[in-house]
Amino acid sequence: MSVSDLVLELSDTIPDFPKPGIVFRDLTPVFANADAFTAIIDDLAARFAGKYDAVAGLEARGFLLAAALAYAGHVPLVAIRKEGKLPGEVLSETYDLEYGTATFEIHPGQIVSGSRVLIVDDVLATGGSAVAATRLVERAGYVVGGIGVVLELDGLGGRDRLGDYELYSIVTEAAG
Ligand code: PRP
Ligand code: MG
Repeated sequence: MSVSDLVLELSDTIPDFPKPGIVFRDLTPVFANADAFTAIIDDLAARFAGKYDAVAGLEARGFLLAAALAYAGHVPLVAIRKEGKLPGEVLSETYDLEYGTATFEIHPGQIVSGSRVLIVDDVLATGGSAVAATRLVERAGYVVGGIGVVLELDGLGGRDRLGDYELYSIVTEAAG
């Protein structure tokens, strides 16, 4: 079975979670399947082969992918964390949520300046998280090597918001 078929077959859709009216796409059953998780990491690594020197994961679910990709490629792992988790000097970017805002932070100066950083996350929806991540990567002095996600929810403007960055999604589906 192809990696996209594995994602589609194993993922869950939960209506009204975490609140009424939200249709939640749950990838934990995909990650819990060793063949599927391995196929996801291999696919992302192959798709961006030769285009990145480091991997950045977005807290929390992006960390699952970023750590495996960094290990597979033997490249540095950059943590883009939710506000208030990183000590010392940080760069911050605030982005919009459905209701309110959230903030991501990065530690500058931990990898070589000019590194091409592959940003990975589980889901791309509005793109707010991913856009904030691209800003942090660039403000830290790196270059965005690409953006890889397992699932892109089409119709929420995420891909448009990311402009000319190279964006690859293993599965794209209409937002529910
Ligand atoms: C979810 C998901 C993506 C983001 C996508 O994370 O894991 O990171 O939303 O949405 P967007 O494209 O509209 O920004 P969430 O912030 O809910 O938290 P988690 O990863 O910590 O569970
Ligand atoms: Mg997330």
